[in-house]
Amino acid sequence: MVKKKKLRLSKSGKTITFIFLGIFISLALIGGLYAKTNYHYKKLGYKGLAITNIYKYNLKKLVDKEGHNKTLSTVLASKDYLDKNRDKYLSINYKEQADFTRHINELLDKGYKETEINDIIRTGTNDEVEKFIKHDYLKKVSDYLGFPYAKLSNIDRYYAYQKEEFTDNDETVVKVNIGLDLPLYDKADVITEDKDNVLANKYHQLGDTYIPNNLVDIDDKYCLNKNQRLVGIALESYLEMLNAATKEGLTLYIRSAYRSYKEQEELYQYYVKNYGVKKADSISARPGFSEHQTGLVVDVAVSKTGIFTETKEFKWMKENAYKYGFILRYPKGKEKITTYNYEAWHYRYVGVDIAKDIVKKKLTFDEYYVMYLDK
Ligand code: DAL
Ligand code: ZN
Repeated sequence: MVKKKKLRLSKSGKTITFIFLGIFISLALIGGLYAKTNYHYKKLGYKGLAITNIYKYNLKKLVDKEGHNKTLSTVLASKDYLDKNRDKYLSINYKEQADFTRHINELLDKGYKETEINDIIRTGTNDEVEKFIKHDYLKKVSDYLGFPYAKLSNIDRYYAYQKEEFTDNDETVVKVNIGLDLPLYDKADVITEDKDNVLANKYHQLGDTYIPNNLVDIDDKYCLNKNQRLVGIALESYLEMLNAATKEGLTLYIRSAYRSYKEQEELYQYYVKNYGVKKADSISARPGFSEHQTGLVVDVAVSKTGIFTETKEFKWMKENAYKYGFILRYPKGKEKITTYNYEAWHYRYVGVDIAKDIVKKKLTFDEYYVMYLDK
């Protein structure tokens, strides 16, 4: 029979074992606590360097108070984090931008207030903010950048335009956004592909290859000139509108709808030949600059001759066109904005929701576009 040998430890051996066990348990407890705290911060969105910084700068209380805070977790996770700006960061709205933290630091150093920094970052891309920082300090930037549709890239132009034109802040932002301070027919912005809510004016050109999708033939019986086309949805709405007008005993015909780049070229040249360039430019778009090329426009008339503004059909269109998604595109009194003479007959399809909003806000499509559609 094999006798089991009992393992006996000497007294000093026991002490050492207890000490080791003690250290092991304490480390395990500390480690567990640490892991638990980290897990808590991770759950709130603080990761990696952010957690290190929470310990390094003793920010546990602050982070516990703030909880999930995208700005705080982002700046803390950045190598650019500066503890002197800790309270200021809390007033900055988060935006996903590569140099978010450094930009905030540098803008604060330049003397911008937190509300101004929010406007600067909100209205610009990362590169635009970078460029802006290199700029001399600008007073009252939020006078312009405070508008939701302001663009940081236009900041110098806002100051320059207002100085020149004495427009109020909102008007300045809208007019500069439209491009009214720039030369006309600049070909920098050329739209080549069909897109929703497309804007065509003297600052937004459609390329000679721009052809709208879904152009459909319009039955000649609705038109004063043969072989007209329109984008499907615009035609559907037009026919609904026509139906409503007809029920009220009114007569409407389409004089002109979609016009290709080439057709516009011929038309514009006709006006130039007959009236000269200056007059032609106030009544006709140059090729590529016509809204007719979008396929979303109808010039309406009651008959081949006669003045549309003097008809009951015009009165009806003024009151009802928006219900079918059409707006009067070149209104009276807005010539400086549209850059065209008043045209009572030219209606642009923008869809019912936008048309209603445009009428409610009493805006032209140029204004509405830069305020609400230009993303
Ligand atoms: N008459 C309008 C402005 C055009 O030619 O498109
Ligand atoms: Zn027209």
